[in-house]
Amino acid sequence: MKLLVTGGAGFIGSNFIIYWLRKYPNDTIINLDKLTYAGNLENLKSVEKNPHYEFIQGDICDSQLVNSLTKRADTIVHFAAESHVDRSIMDPAPFVKTNIEGTYVLLEAAFKNKVKRFHHISTDEVFGALALGSSDKFNEKSQYDPHSPYSASKAASDHLVRAYHTTYNLPITISNCSNNFGPYQFPEKLIPLTITNIIENKKVPVYGDGLYVRDWLYVEDHCQAIDLILQKGRVGETYFVGGLNKDVNNIEIVKMILKIMGKDETVVEYVKDRPGHDRRYAIDWSKINRELGWKPQYDFADYLKTTVDWYLKNQQWWKDIKSGEYQNYYKKQYA
Ligand code: NAD
Ligand code: TYD
Repeated sequence: MKLLVTGGAGFIGSNFIIYWLRKYPNDTIINLDKLTYAGNLENLKSVEKNPHYEFIQGDICDSQLVNSLTKRADTIVHFAAESHVDRSIMDPAPFVKTNIEGTYVLLEAAFKNKVKRFHHISTDEVFGALALGSSDKFNEKSQYDPHSPYSASKAASDHLVRAYHTTYNLPITISNCSNNFGPYQFPEKLIPLTITNIIENKKVPVYGDGLYVRDWLYVEDHCQAIDLILQKGRVGETYFVGGLNKDVNNIEIVKMILKIMGKDETVVEYVKDRPGHDRRYAIDWSKINRELGWKPQYDFADYLKTTVDWYLKNQQWWKDIKSGEYQNYYKKQYA
């Protein structure tokens, strides 16, 4: 395959590129990434000299650039996005621009250049919130009901991708996944923020009552799911990708991390809640399991331990991030 990966310098995209080149060393990858605050070429050190890999710094909203790169690809895997809910609450503008307009620009180029597959990475957040304590789960037929500027912009991009399939017959697939975690995740998200704050002897901020529930997916399992969708997924279809079978709330996750790291709970600090905070997400991932044979390889607790180990071993990676622009964001968010 000749892949054009967007947002490949971010968390999931960089894990995907490393995964793909390891598994398919004869394929080629062009990584188009703007290098926003979330993009980090350090993630890709292990592949930067690989002749099958090329990095292009650029914006997915730049139609000329996107068009020229698309000519050299048969498959687009679209990760690039503004991805953090709290930042979308502070300033929705880049979310609308990148997530909606950027996706449109890519779809146009994909259509013009007749790519064989356009795979769009989306989120479970587009479906709104489930009730705490219920056993309901989102599935591929759930209704869209986004609540944050982030999820609203992702919902809009999903609709555009589907419209290009229905109207222009563009060969698309979509995956809606839950919260990812693992190596190279920017430390603004719950799990890496908790681990790195504990290492730095800082308080761990927990929003509201801490009883919010997310589904958690280890990033390598996610990469494997995308792989299966690209190889065997049905064109036009959506696949849900999740990691858990039972609810684990935020405070339980923080406590699990504290236990792994041998710390007590006095570091937990309950802070002001996120506006419009979705109570509970849960994912029914039986379709991808049934049709493509996908399932998470290990338990959540094992993956959490692996992730803690990675942040312990790679302190320079996240300390470089935390000493930069991130400090302004942190002050503003947790003032
Ligand atoms: P991330 O924020 O770590 O990385 C996003 C990457 O996109 C960065 O490298 C950034 O530089 C790049 N980018 C941003 N705007 C761009 C633009 N205009 N042009 C080119 N590149 C641009 O995000 P992530 O966590 O790796 O998420 C990847 C995708 O997965 C996103 O589409 C996100 O919505 C989706 N997703 C993420 C999660 C999660 O838990 N992280 C869960 C569900 C879905
Ligand atoms: P986050 O990692 O930001 O992902 P998302 O908002 O996409 O689900 O947040 C995961 C959960 O953790 C969410 O319920 C908000 C909560 N949270 C905290 O309690 N404290 C924090 O400092 C952060 C960043 C998140």
